Formats: sequence, structure tokens, C-alpha cells
Amino acid sequence: MKEYVTEIIRIDESLIEEGNIDSLKELPVLQQAAELLRKGELVAFPTETVYGLGADATEPEAIKKIYRAKGRPQDNPLIVHIAGFHELEGLVRGSLNPQAERLIKTFWPGPLTIVVDKKETIPAETTAGLDSVAIRMPAHPLTRAIIELAGVPIAAPSANKSGAPSPTRAEHVYADLKGRIPLILDGGPARVGLESTVIDVRSEKVRILRPGGVSREEIRELIGAYLHEPGDEGEGTEKSNMIEKPLSPGMKYRHYSPATPLYIIEDEQALENLLQSGLEGDIALILSEEWAGKYEASLRDSKVIKMGPRERPELIAAGIFQLLRHLDTLSLDRAYIEAIPERGIGEAIMNRIRKASSRK
Ligand code: TXA
Ligand code: MG
Repeated sequence: MKEYVTEIIRIDESLIEEGNIDSLKELPVLQQAAELLRKGELVAFPTETVYGLGADATEPEAIKKIYRAKGRPQDNPLIVHIAGFHELEGLVRGSLNPQAERLIKTFWPGPLTIVVDKKETIPAETTAGLDSVAIRMPAHPLTRAIIELAGVPIAAPSANKSGAPSPTRAEHVYADLKGRIPLILDGGPARVGLESTVIDVRSEKVRILRPGGVSREEIRELIGAYLHEPGDEGEGTEKSNMIEKPLSPGMKYRHYSPATPLYIIEDEQALENLLQSGLEGDIALILSEEWAGKYEASLRDSKVIKMGPRERPELIAAGIFQLLRHLDTLSLDRAYIEAIPERGIGEAIMNRIRKASSRK
């Protein structure tokens, strides 16, 4: 693989505003990024969910570089990012059903990815040979400016080494991919902190393949009974489907994994049992503000890492990948993490935590 001197260029955060896309496009560094993308090179950039590793989605040789740089399994397809609704026509075969239309009108630009039948414009390399393609219109002004300047749809997985927690800051990308890519744009921390919700809209009844930044409740509120729910049609639970028969190819791989063994504390009883068992070794407990406060007296000798308030799960989401990366700098024997309610963004948080733990 080619060796690069990886440049990180910081974009002044005061410029990163919704109404400022045209001025962002004037920045020489964005033009440099777009030029690299048009030449078939890779560029890492922030989105509102996590940092992405972009390449021209229509160029097989550029796409292969993504798989090489990340060490990504060949059978895991990429999400194609667009900057405007008009770009859909060139990518989607047939027309979108009414559910898909309502979803994108409501949640785009934003953390929602739809899976549709693909046109020939998108090569097999991008979709790992599938006839479908995942498409997202990100909300981040910088991402949109880059896509517009590049003038092509941009395939972008999360910009981490395959298997590692997704990057929510430019320095996470640098830690994983330095020497493997030419350029990282630093736009500060990602706002959402978890990846987009991936939803298959090819049938009348749509199905969430990966929980993410748009919650099941928000989707249900919009389309009601057109959302496939866990347990529907006697197919088993969504959870068992995702583990045994992954709907989204990426869901079957071990993911987000810190090297530190991570165990989940399912409820308060489990925490009490754990504290009574007399924890041995170098360990940490990752707890919400609420539990850390409530159990303060019994936690005295333990190392506690706070993950944010249960009451504000969006704050937990924003910091969880950073926290998983931080964990590995502490040289612990193991860590325990509190389970939070799987409501709203909590469903996506727990999906990532369960994958990060991948231990019973
Ligand atoms: O928020 C996000 O979605 C971020 C930012 C960069 O946009 N991207 C991201 O990409 O998370 P990645 O590659 O890390 O995850 C893409 C997920 C994988 O689980 C993959 O299997 C699934 O989307 N996916 C992609 N194309 C698909 C398809 N045609 N059918 C089903 N699942 C698909
Ligand atoms: Mg990823």
C-alpha cells in the first residue's frame, strides 16, 4: 500500500454553519479535498454522525483504496453520500415508495441512510456486489460543501480502522489511518457521535437494519404501521436477526471494540452484586451520573468513569466512542459499563455497547 504523509487541516469552527456552504466552498483546503477526491484519492472529513473516509463512489479503483486503508472486509458495502435530492435520480433504480419519500423529506439532510435498488452508475465495488445501494444526505455543512465541490457522489464508511470504535474527532482518524491517507479535515467533534440509522425502504414495510442517529420512535411516529417492528411476522426478534442473520452486512462483524474486556451491567441489581463481590484487579466502572451518584458510598475504592446522564442519552451518544478509545489508554484488566434504556437514541447506544462488549 502507498505510504502517505497524512495532513490534518483544521477548519475554523466559526465558518461551519448551515448558511455558509458557499463560503466554505471558497476555502483552498476544501478545493484541495475535492481535487483529491476527483483524482481517486481518499479524504477523511467530519459529518454530523462520525468522521467519514470518502472516495468517489463511481470509481472502482478509488473504492478499493477505502477497503485497503481501513482493512475492511470485502463483503461490507459502503454508504453513498449526496448533497442534494436531485442526485437521487442518478443512483436509484425505479422510484421511491411513499414511505421512503416521507422519511427523506423529514430526516434529510441528517443521520438517516436509505437502502434502495441501485442503478449502474454505482459500481459493484461500492456495494460489495449487492444490487442495492445505501444513500445518505448528511447535514454537516462541511460534508455538503465537499460533496458539492467534488461533483460526484461520495462513498464514505466511518474513518476508523476496521473493528475499532468509529472516530468522532480528527485525532481518532489520525490515530487509526495515519500514513494510509493523504488528508484529514478537522471540523471539531461530531455532534451526534453515533452513525446514521440504516433503513431498507425497498418494500412497502420498511425495516431498520442498523439503529442510529434517527430513533425508531421518530420513524414510527412518521410512518406508523409501515415500520417493521421486532417480532413482526414471527421472524424472531430484530436483535436475534441482526446477530444470526445480519440484514446489513456490516452488522455481523465485531465492531467498536476496545482491547480492554468490557462487560455490561444490565441493571441495578447486577451493579449491587458486582460491588458486593469485591472487585479484584485493575478495573473501571463506566456509569451514568445518576448511578454514580446513587452508589457513591459503595463505589469509594473503585475507578469510576462517568458516561453522562441517563436522562440525556444524546450526551452519552456524543461521547461513547471517545470513551471506548480512552479506555484502552488506561491499561485495565477489564471494565464494566452500565446498560441504559433502549429508547430513543438509547437503542443505538446499546447496539454499539453490545457489539463493543461481544462477551456474554
Ligand atoms: O453515519 C454514518 O452512516 C457514517 C458517516 C460517515 O456517514 N458512515 C458509516 O458507514 O457508518 P459504515 O461503512 O461504517 O457503515 C455502513 C453500514 C454497514 O453496516 C453496512 O453493512 C451498511 O451500512 N450498508 C451499506 N450498504 C448497504 C446495503 N446496500 N444494504 C444493506 N446494508 C448496507
Ligand atoms: Mg463503520
